[in-house]
Amino acid sequence: MEFKTTVVLFFLASLEYSVCYDYKTVLQKSLLFFEAQRSGKLPADQKVKWRADSALHDKGRKGEDLTGGYYDAGDFVKFGFPMAFTATVLSWSVLDHEKAYVKAGVLEDQHKAIKWATDYLLKCHVGDNQLYGQVGLGQLDHESWTRPEDMTMERPAFMINASAPGSDLAGETAAAMAAASLVFKKVNATYSALLLKHARQLFDFANNHRGKYSDSIADANNFYPSSNYPDEIVWGAAWLYRATREQKYMNVVNEIYPTIQYWDGFSWDDKKGGVDLLLADLTKDSKYLDKLKTFCDYAFNKQAKTPKGLIFYSESASLRSTNNMLIICLEAAERGVNAATYRKESKKQIDYMLGDSGFSYVVGIGNKYPTHAHHRSSSCPDHPAQCGWSFFNSDAPNHHMVEGAIVGGPGSKDAYVDTRKDAPHNEVACDFNVAFQACIAILVELGY
Ligand SMILES: *[C@@H]1O[C@H](CO)[C@@H](O)[C@H](O)[C@H]1NC(C)=O
Ligand SMILES: *[C@@H]1O[C@H](CO)[C@@H](O)[C@H](O)[C@H]1NC(C)=O
Repeated sequence: MEFKTTVVLFFLASLEYSVCYDYKTVLQKSLLFFEAQRSGKLPADQKVKWRADSALHDKGRKGEDLTGGYYDAGDFVKFGFPMAFTATVLSWSVLDHEKAYVKAGVLEDQHKAIKWATDYLLKCHVGDNQLYGQVGLGQLDHESWTRPEDMTMERPAFMINASAPGSDLAGETAAAMAAASLVFKKVNATYSALLLKHARQLFDFANNHRGKYSDSIADANNFYPSSNYPDEIVWGAAWLYRATREQKYMNVVNEIYPTIQYWDGFSWDDKKGGVDLLLADLTKDSKYLDKLKTFCDYAFNKQAKTPKGLIFYSESASLRSTNNMLIICLEAAERGVNAATYRKESKKQIDYMLGDSGFSYVVGIGNKYPTHAHHRSSSCPDHPAQCGWSFFNSDAPNHHMVEGAIVGGPGSKDAYVDTRKDAPHNEVACDFNVAFQACIAILVELGY
């Protein structure tokens, strides 16, 4: 009898461990999400067929071509700050985990996803000290519920420049271009050099004309207000140092790093966790790993958890915050910091998101996943049918699947309702996806 119980328990235990997710498929689908967010003229090899050309008249104040780039989230504004962050992390992920992208068969798709952002960011950089940081107006954009292909609202463009600076936006865009220049080094040396040239100029702009971009671009202040800019100057400098090994960039790091000793982690607004990882690699100084260990030990052991075990930071887009933390701690593990524990705990968090909680928060993954994501373009029927607020208000599922998109996620008690009306929990966004994707890539590379 006892023997039998043991066998049964053993069997149950092994069943529990046999629940595994196909992380390679998740990685592939994440790239489909980026295709779904494309603005501008779509290429012939576009796989997400329910999207078509859109916003072909996006331009600067002097008529400069600003077509392309990514729609930010469920809406159609092109916010430069989170878009540049997305491009940096897409580049970082494939630079340091290329094997994962090769294993999943999406290396080329990843390059395309990066280039879709950097081609646009290059267009935005219209003068040494002039960078467009937003196309579209948040409020106006949010007043309609349409397909991007049918937008008719005004889409003005806003810039930063020497008299209205934005060290955070310019620093992050410099980081994106420096990181992408490393990605494209072997793929297209000309493109790589072009990116590096712009990265250098943008970094000088960020460093020489200091200020917060959201003080210069008023509308961005309503959606992506920057808390500060020294972290992006250091982040940009660290990326330029990685790309060039020129001491002048490390000098800027050494000058400004001591002022960013406060610690909040990693996000579109906050680069400090990423800075510590890069500097750990570039300097081999163990102090950076010590800081990461303090952060991750707190996150895994002391941070609030939902009843089902999700490490929980924020009611709005909870999974974004958790994934941002997991990138830092999975990367810390890559550098030998509590590797076995951090990896095991991180995998548990990712598996919660993919279905261990009883629901998959990633569209198109698993059996039960969001069918009413707050995402205008996929919620609308195909052309020529009219879209509109009735499609927002209806209980019917979205007309198209925005495959590979991770939604904001549950509340502090694991509660979640799959409705378009709940943007804080059910919207999707480029920066949500890139954080999740970066974690998934590490799991794929580890062979999990
Ligand atoms: C600089 O940017 C600000 C804020 O976008 C704008 O109002 C101003 O006209 C710009 N100045 C120049 C010379 O382009
Ligand atoms: C390489 O990049 C340059 C600069 O963007 C571009 O003009 C060229 O067509 C690219 N070459 C290939 C083979 O894609």
